[in-house]
Amino acid sequence: MSTVVAVDGPSGSGKSSVSREVAARLGLAYLDTGAMYRAATWWCTHQGVDLADGTAVTAAVRAMPLVMGMDPAAPTVHVDGHDVAAAIRTTEISAAVSAVATTLDARAELGARQRALIDAERTGGFSAGRGVVAEGRDITTVVAPDADVRVLLTASEEARLARRAREVHGTDDAAALAATHDQVLRRDADDSTVVQFHVAADGVVTVDSSHLTYEGTVEAVLDVVARTLAVR
Ligand code: DC
Repeated sequence: MSTVVAVDGPSGSGKSSVSREVAARLGLAYLDTGAMYRAATWWCTHQGVDLADGTAVTAAVRAMPLVMGMDPAAPTVHVDGHDVAAAIRTTEISAAVSAVATTLDARAELGARQRALIDAERTGGFSAGRGVVAEGRDITTVVAPDADVRVLLTASEEARLARRAREVHGTDDAAALAATHDQVLRRDADDSTVVQFHVAADGVVTVDSSHLTYEGTVEAVLDVVARTLAVR
């Protein structure tokens, strides 16, 4: 029997590293849907598409030759044969990605591809049918509302800023916090205009990682998975 675990949350909630670890421990595939939005942004830029032109963005995203590698031990992202894993994490892409994420027709295209990748893992794919942990902003609500386990991973604004500052700048001193502030909060504010990821939808279990270590958060999510599957 396959298991689909959907995890949503804002920037800095720790959802990518935690979801990846949960997938590895459960022997499931791992799908980072944020990486798909980032890859789409990289592709549009690479193709010279004006990100303010929603029609052109949607056309480019529909034509994007994207291949997601879903092994949690070594996830990969290739666009048109290019390994873009590093290129999609630059500050330029982080600053531009909301333009794609707020283009509704581009969201529909990426959402359909995400559903197809999740469905492939229910019966075969990387996990040989064991299932997948898929994480993003709208997985519990739009992409896979029928997932077996649905988790909203939250953290206080303070904890999220400190985490991102340490990730990007190696410290959470005042200068690093100030530099991170705009990036994290503006992007979440822009993205929340089209998708709601601050409050758990019906049936979604909230895990607040503000006062948890990384290991504590992984265990809390594993606990939700075990409890949810036990009562089904
Ligand atoms: O999680 P991340 O920072 O890699 O996400 C990159 C961007 O993609 C971010 O601006 C939010 C957006 N996103 C989204 O709108 N829906 C998703 N399912 C995943 C990410």
